[in-house]
Amino acid sequence: MAYSEAELQTLNEQLAVEIPKNIIKKSFELFDSIAISFSGAEDVVLIDMAMKLNPNAKIFSLDTGRLHPETYQFMEKVREHYNTEIEVLYPDAETLQAFVQKNGLFSFYKDDHKPCCTIRKTAPLRKKLETIDAWITGQRKDQSPGTRSGIPTVQADEVFSGEGRQLVKFNPLANWSSQQVWEYIQMFDVPFNSLHEKGFISIGCEPCTRPVKPNQHEREGRWWWEESTQKECGLHALNLPSD
Ligand code: ADX
Ligand code: SF4
Repeated sequence: MAYSEAELQTLNEQLAVEIPKNIIKKSFELFDSIAISFSGAEDVVLIDMAMKLNPNAKIFSLDTGRLHPETYQFMEKVREHYNTEIEVLYPDAETLQAFVQKNGLFSFYKDDHKPCCTIRKTAPLRKKLETIDAWITGQRKDQSPGTRSGIPTVQADEVFSGEGRQLVKFNPLANWSSQQVWEYIQMFDVPFNSLHEKGFISIGCEPCTRPVKPNQHEREGRWWWEESTQKECGLHALNLPSD
C-alpha cells in the first residue's frame, strides 16, 4: 500500500511532536517490513529504543570496508549487548575491485567522494531497501545546517522508491539535539563508540572523518575538503537541493 503525499504529511505533523520512542513505535505499527539503518555512531539510541519495543527489530549496517577499527568493535559490542543480529551489508566485490584498480584507494581526496560512496554505501543500501517497505535512520536537523535543517520525521523516500514501490523513511531523531541524544545515552547506560572519547562527533569512514576543533560544527569533520552544502553521500541524497 502506498501512502499519498497528504497522508504522509499528516503523519509527519502528528509524529513531529512525539518523542523518538513513540515515533519508532508508530513506525513498527505501520510497517512489518521495516529496518533500522545503524552507522555505528550515536544512532545507537535508535537500537536501544527499538529493542525495548520489539527485541526482534531488524537492524542493518553498511560495511564500506573503510570504517574505523573502533566502529567495527562497537558494532560487535552492540550486537552482544542487545543480543541482536545486525545484518552487515558489503559492496559488490567485482565493482569495487575494478574501481580501486583504476582509481586507487584514496581517489575521494582528488576527485569527489561520490563515486566511492556510490559503490561502498549507496549501491548496497539500494539493494537492501528494495527488500523492505520502510527504513529508520538516525538523521537529525542539528547535524548539518547545510543539508539537514529541513528533514521531516517521516517522508516518502523518492530516491530509493522503485517503479510502483513506495519506500517510507523515518527520522525519529530529526528534532532531537545532540545534547538530548547524549543525555539519553548517559541516562540509560547505552554503549557508545569509543571514538566519541577521542574528539569525534560525527563518525563515518576512517579516511573521510576527522575530529573537530572547539566550536567547529560536527559536520566539518566529514569530507572536510568539500563544500558544506554537498556533504551527503547518497544515503540521504533526498536532503540535497535538486538541480
Ligand atoms: S552520512 O550519510 O553522512 O554517512 P551520517 O553519518 O550523518 O550519514 O548518519 C546519518 C544516518 O545515516 C545514521 O544514523 C544511519 O541511520 C545512516 N547511516 C550512515 N552511515 C551508515 C552505515 N555505514 N550503515 C548504516 N546506516 C548508516
Ligand atoms: Fe569512500 Fe569516503 Fe564515501 Fe567511505 S565516506 S565510501 S571511504 S568516499
